[in-house]
Amino acid sequence: MNHLQQKIIKLKEEKNALILAHYYQTMDIQEIADHVCDSFAMAQLAHTAKQKLLVICGVHFMAESAKILNPDKTVLLPVLDAGCPMADMIVPDDVLALRKHYPEAAVVCYVNSSAAVKAVSDICCTSSSAERIVRTLPEKQIIFIPDRNLGAYIATKVPEKEFIFHPGWCPVHDCITVLDVQAAREKHPDAKFLAHPECQGVVLNFADFVGSTAEIIDFALKSDCSDFIIGTEYGVTEHLAKLAPYKNFFPLTSTFECEDMKKVKLSDVLTSLETGQHEMKLSTDEINAARNSLERMVGV
Ligand code: 13P
Ligand code: SF4
Repeated sequence: MNHLQQKIIKLKEEKNALILAHYYQTMDIQEIADHVCDSFAMAQLAHTAKQKLLVICGVHFMAESAKILNPDKTVLLPVLDAGCPMADMIVPDDVLALRKHYPEAAVVCYVNSSAAVKAVSDICCTSSSAERIVRTLPEKQIIFIPDRNLGAYIATKVPEKEFIFHPGWCPVHDCITVLDVQAAREKHPDAKFLAHPECQGVVLNFADFVGSTAEIIDFALKSDCSDFIIGTEYGVTEHLAKLAPYKNFFPLTSTFECEDMKKVKLSDVLTSLETGQHEMKLSTDEINAARNSLERMVGV
């Protein structure tokens, strides 16, 4: 551990804080976290945390969700402008217009969205819980927002339901092409290709396994194979390389990074613990409006 990491751990203990980091964070941040997790585990851990102070090393919607699930706790987001472009691709009016058009449908909202959008949705989901959640809903019609790629992937898994999509996408995963996959396969012919469902369907068709960040990690660790092409953000490749140094993990492209996730630096986490910046603040009305859809997600 370097000097900054040691200072963070000491302060975290003094303040009895819980640090949750997403797998897309840099390794130095993953190393100081109490838990490194996918979006679903992050929401669940935030929901059940005993600590009164939560530091979310990730992007804005993650800290916002943690606050909605814990209105009485202090939730800190070390870098305020670490956002998710996909979450900004939809506003409540878009959802209300879809609802008007499809009054019988349930609105399933990917957690990569704002509190205001969650407030006009029926239930939230993450990539690891979307299929299960869609299956449990009694409605036959599903308005899936905002990620068209995750929605289309879930639609292939649950063909008995009718899906209506919103055209949102993740700029990090959506730009991956079939040519990228072919080039990686040529370089590593024995490797299994593991992909995140935020990639386009044409890319997922080539995958040996499709899952959330945590599911990709789990699959690679349990597999008998030793070589893997990782079809998601570089933090997952780094995490796997550290956990299983006896296996080979190749990033699908050399630029597979989420700019926003990488904005968070160790110095920001330290400042956040020292000064309480940036505290996630939501009004009681905003929290109450969005709470039901998130609580339903963590309860399923
Ligand atoms: P998961 O960690 O839930 O797979 O989500 C990936 C992601 O893009 C979060 O923004
Ligand atoms: Fe948003 Fe994509 Fe970054 Fe995830 S990887 S936080 S979906 S931009």
